[in-house]
Amino acid sequence: MPSPTRVNPVDVILAKRRGEAHPQHQLEAFIGGYQRGEVADYQVAAWLMAVVWRGMSDVETAALTQVLADSGERLDLSELPHCVDKHSTGGVGDTTTLVLAPLVAALGATVAKLSGRGLGHSGGTIDKLESIPGFGATLDRDAFLRQAREVGVVVSGQSADLAPADGLLYALRDATGTVESLPLIASSIMSKKLAGGAKHLVLDVKTGSGAFMKRDAEARALARAMVGIGRQAGLAVRAVLSRMDQPLGRAVGHALEVREALALLRGEALDGHLREVVVVLAFELLESAGLVTSRSQVEAALDDGRALERFERWVAAQGGDVGALARLDVAPDEAAWPAPASGTLRRVDAERVGIAVARLGGAREHKSDTVDLGVGAVLHARVGDEVRAGEPLATLYHRGGRGLEAALAALTGAAEVGTALTPPAVVVDVLR
Ligand code: URA
Ligand code: CA
Repeated sequence: MPSPTRVNPVDVILAKRRGEAHPQHQLEAFIGGYQRGEVADYQVAAWLMAVVWRGMSDVETAALTQVLADSGERLDLSELPHCVDKHSTGGVGDTTTLVLAPLVAALGATVAKLSGRGLGHSGGTIDKLESIPGFGATLDRDAFLRQAREVGVVVSGQSADLAPADGLLYALRDATGTVESLPLIASSIMSKKLAGGAKHLVLDVKTGSGAFMKRDAEARALARAMVGIGRQAGLAVRAVLSRMDQPLGRAVGHALEVREALALLRGEALDGHLREVVVVLAFELLESAGLVTSRSQVEAALDDGRALERFERWVAAQGGDVGALARLDVAPDEAAWPAPASGTLRRVDAERVGIAVARLGGAREHKSDTVDLGVGAVLHARVGDEVRAGEPLATLYHRGGRGLEAALAALTGAAEVGTALTPPAVVVDVLR
């Protein structure tokens, strides 16, 4: 094996400090050196801060993405038909994957996903699935590929091998105030998607008060950067901008979200936002893969039970008890979150609702924490609804009052009630 190219880390830091663009071989050597322990944490931290201030060109961002994607194994899914993937930039009450995966599989696509667990206030898909008794998310490579072939949907929990250098960088960014940088975020997300092996990707980029990117212009810029990286890498990427001025669905919390996903799969109307986002994301993926030409084809598979049938096959294939779906373990005690005033509900801070559920025990702060999958919140009012002071905006599901006071404190000021407004559409735009 040829010995890896080396660089002087200080030269790399100085180049970025001056605002110069790194050629790909320099990024390879620098990131590779970091992985091998030849470049120190403090040097990478200094470089990250220079990137935050100086930015990166599109070409450079695409090169960094490739370097991160190649830092570990790349999943080879080429034997599977129409492999698709989806990524959301961090929703609260965002159960889209649970509905989207069986829906697109029912229409001929394959979803073979390695997924991380939830960290912080937004829940992870694997954790939600594990609220189904028996559901297992630890599959070896052969079982993973077999299920993808036979059922069209598989979600497995090991993702440590995908873009491991991104994991190292992300931990360092988290500890050094260097998370918020468009090229760093775009390359981080896209490196894992490239390593994940799908051919078609849809990104659900959230915008608004509860989102990572609070302003439409920032969310749009991030979406554009990721679509551009995908294009250069031969991955068909589309991005949907969706609004987060309230949790996407009515339910927040693992078992409660699974229950809501099931209601959607059974064709129940709910209030439409979750369904709207699921249908738009599914349509963009399936049209990109050449599997549908109209949105009504997607809606039909949701309404006539094909998506539900596929969901049940998926759950059963991973050991889940389909019969138990009707009686998931939801925490037994209920408390109301009262409306602060009478008027029109104008905004519900999704992040605060996520934090409230975390206070009830429904999220992990550290990777080793255990999560109470049964606690959560169900919203009764949606933006645009008339509410009366003191009436419940949501029901909180808790266990014997654990974390309840802190949860209600987190919700103080989270709902804005005022003059009438017409609720804006949840999907802001689609970038192709
Ligand atoms: N999610 C990621 O995977 N990476 C980031 O940098 C930010 C959000
Ligand atoms: Ca997520």
